[in-house]
Amino acid sequence: MKTQLRLGVIGSGSVVREIYQYLYFRSQYSPLLDVCAVADPNEPYRNWFGNLAGIPAERRFADHRELLAKVELDAVQVNTPDHLHCAPTVDALRAGLDVVVPKPTAATVRDAHAMIAAARESGRFLGIDFHKREDPRIKEAEARFQRGRYGTFQTAVFYMLDKLWVADPNHSPRFFASADFAEKNTPVSFLTVHMADALMKIVNLIPVQVRATGYSQKLPALKPIPVNGYDLVDTEIRFTTGAQAHIITGWAVPNSAESVTVQSGRILCSEGLMDLGLGTPGLREVHADGLTEVNPLFRNFEKDNTVTGYGISSPGRLYQQILALRNGRCSDAERAAAFHPMTLGFYTTLVLEGAEKSLATGAKSPEGVTHGPVVDLRRLAAEQLGASVAAAYGLQ
Ligand SMILES: NC(=O)c1ccc[n+]([C@@H]2O[C@H](COP(=O)([O-])OP(=O)(O)OC[C@H]3O[C@@H](n4cnc5c(N)ncnc54)[C@H](O)[C@@H]3O)[C@@H](O)[C@H]2O)c1
Repeated sequence: MKTQLRLGVIGSGSVVREIYQYLYFRSQYSPLLDVCAVADPNEPYRNWFGNLAGIPAERRFADHRELLAKVELDAVQVNTPDHLHCAPTVDALRAGLDVVVPKPTAATVRDAHAMIAAARESGRFLGIDFHKREDPRIKEAEARFQRGRYGTFQTAVFYMLDKLWVADPNHSPRFFASADFAEKNTPVSFLTVHMADALMKIVNLIPVQVRATGYSQKLPALKPIPVNGYDLVDTEIRFTTGAQAHIITGWAVPNSAESVTVQSGRILCSEGLMDLGLGTPGLREVHADGLTEVNPLFRNFEKDNTVTGYGISSPGRLYQQILALRNGRCSDAERAAAFHPMTLGFYTTLVLEGAEKSLATGAKSPEGVTHGPVVDLRRLAAEQLGASVAAAYGLQ
């Protein structure tokens, strides 16, 4: 029986620094992983990670194709920017490896479909780390809703709002290394995908329309470096049943906020509602530094130097699934669930691409508000994938 996976890490930037280094080296999942190679074109990042993992120079690469060709591996984790998930993932799956990717699956449905198709064709595992799926409050909401306790889902409002310093290149030290982070990324690609995915996991519905409204009023006024990006985006999603949701995300909350991310959610149904106190996980700190909501549920630095929380257990469970599959300990039902497009984040990518398209084609008012038009997701999927492939995803 296989008990450990030889893992190659492709991309070793911010998300590895903030989350995955703890998964690889300081978690209950670390014994499952033998991190033996890294690929990243950025030399300082590659060597920071190579040194941390004790990877010899001959197993540090600038190009993922060299890593795949030269090192014997069981799996890779692809931590590249969203629009660069597809090629390393497809190459690794075709090379017979299992793959884990941080959320979102990809920036476009075309890429997401290529990745899903490569997983199905190769029979290898593809796992997307949407860590909110492992948040005990989201799991409880999913179980209660799916037992029928609340009747028919009607509408929902979710918030996920980062403190300004997350996106502000004038803040020292910078949260994200690049000065143009908030121009290259939007609150939709970074934040909306978390909440849209969590909601869709709970209500298990396919989205068919998206409309986004973007507010650009704070970031362009930052000094001395202004940012040409959105402070806040309201993404309205409509589902097959006519139910709808507003996912409101941004990164312009004052730095005095009670936590790095101010967040909550409310789900309203025909027979009741659920309030998700996502921003109040239970440990409130009063200190000279200020009043802080600490979230030990997400990432908890334990006394024994290990790191726990759903930020770690979410990807950790994906590696457990890979081992179960490789050891023939995965039932047909578990395999079918693992390969389902909802599990693989296809519909979340569809919402992401639709919302970005809505913003890109919207009209901007003199006040800095971009009113995006409604984007028909069935049409978007058919244009990008062809009608028959879109229909296979339930988008006919
Ligand atoms: N909490 C979360 O769930 C969370 C948080 C942050 C980022 N993410 C996701 O993680 C991914 C990476 O984000 P990040 O913030 O670490 O970005 P980043 O820009 O800090 O790091 C990306 C790294 O990938 C490298 N890279 C680029 N092209 C490559 C290639 N072809 N092969 C190998 N390496 C390549 C870059 O040099 C860089 O070091 C994104 O998909 C992002 O959305 C998830």
